[in-house]
Amino acid sequence: MPRTPIVGGNWKMNTDLAQAGTLAAEVRHRLGSQRGCDVVVFPPFPFLRPVTERLDGCRVEVGAQDVATEAKGAFTGAVAGAMIASCGASWVLIGHSERRSVFGDSDAVVAKKLSAALAVGLKPVLCVGESRSEREAGQTFAVVRRQLESALAGLATDTLRALVIAYEPVWAIGTGLVATPAQAQEVHAFVRGTVADLLGRAFADAVRLQYGGSVKADNAAGLWAQPDIDGFLVGGASLEAEGFAAIVRARRAD
Ligand code: PGA
Repeated sequence: MPRTPIVGGNWKMNTDLAQAGTLAAEVRHRLGSQRGCDVVVFPPFPFLRPVTERLDGCRVEVGAQDVATEAKGAFTGAVAGAMIASCGASWVLIGHSERRSVFGDSDAVVAKKLSAALAVGLKPVLCVGESRSEREAGQTFAVVRRQLESALAGLATDTLRALVIAYEPVWAIGTGLVATPAQAQEVHAFVRGTVADLLGRAFADAVRLQYGGSVKADNAAGLWAQPDIDGFLVGGASLEAEGFAAIVRARRAD
């Protein structure tokens, strides 16, 4: 079974209410009837509901950028999975490198967030990737393997059917330094192999793997062509609808 490509737009902490609505409408205009590639946008929490309303009835889905480890209660400032789902969003980013490095989310916290998302039926995009110093020290595979093992070990494959894994080398995020297609493919193949070790070959062959880190319309085609790259998680370039749509269109339909 071929894997359906999937492209996500991570808006991070950008846009205000009006801008989020406009951007959603522009994405809908360009990608709302897109076939052959799933598209998800990840607006900031306060705009989940207005953005899902703007995208209602079209093919673009909506996700949150993070989720609380706990289901409810005295956790000021946190947002529970059920709240996200009740806004009409269906996806959630788990363990984005900015959550790990800026907010201190450990592997253990990331694993709890993944479980919290699965418990309410949100579809998770699990983000992994090495820092520049880890790559330079030759630790890329060890870091990625540790992140995957800690999040996925012990989970049943039937709860993970919607799982997407985003490989995002931290040194490529927001830096303009995109991994070469060969560098990205090498780690993607490693990710798929590690998933096979953890969850079985059939699951690994079906799971969709995104690359993230300075993806733009003009560097997407070479990455799309790699056999283990099934799409992208796009940050900066997702804030402009035409550039975002061009990344989706850069895929040569096969
Ligand atoms: P970038 O961000 O495309 O701006 O590098 C990617 C991401 O953080 O998901």
